[in-house]
Amino acid sequence: MPAKDDMALPYFRILSITLVVVASCLSHLPLLSNAQEAGTATYYTPPYTPSACYGYEEQGTMIAAASDEIWNDGGACGQMYQVTCVSGTNEGTPYPCWGSGTVEIKIVDHCPAGCRGTIDLSQEAFASIADPDSGVINISYQQYVPYIIHIIRSIHLL
Ligand SMILES: *[C@@H]1O[C@H](CO)[C@@H](O)[C@H](O)[C@H]1NC(C)=O
Repeated sequence: MPAKDDMALPYFRILSITLVVVASCLSHLPLLSNAQEAGTATYYTPPYTPSACYGYEEQGTMIAAASDEIWNDGGACGQMYQVTCVSGTNEGTPYPCWGSGTVEIKIVDHCPAGCRGTIDLSQEAFASIADPDSGVINISYQQYVPYIIHIIRSIHLL
């Protein structure tokens, strides 16, 4: 007959593995905070600095510039969006969507009045969801807050 300690060890091991799995799932689960909106996306090419939000600070390549529709006087800086390729526009190639279909980007810059797209993606972000030859695509987009940041924020509110 096994001693009590031998029985307890597997139990705690399973419990801690479960907690790690649950925690890592939660931290990867995006919290979609707004309804999906329809718009268009274009792209811009390096250099990505200086940017309207971060100056000369590099923010990687999964970035975008916000048109006046979402810029919110700079309030959009740092916001994360999920951008999904829906179709071509009537001016571009007919079937431009490819790759992962959806890309997650951070707003780092402003695409001023006259901007052709709702969101001006980095070339890398655009190329991960559509053929850059198309130039402009129809998208759906949705702001999201990573679940872990949402938890941290709600703790601060207590
Ligand atoms: C792109 O979106 C616009 C606006 O929703 C729509 O009128 C147009 O038909 C779409 N283009 C294609 C090729 O689906």
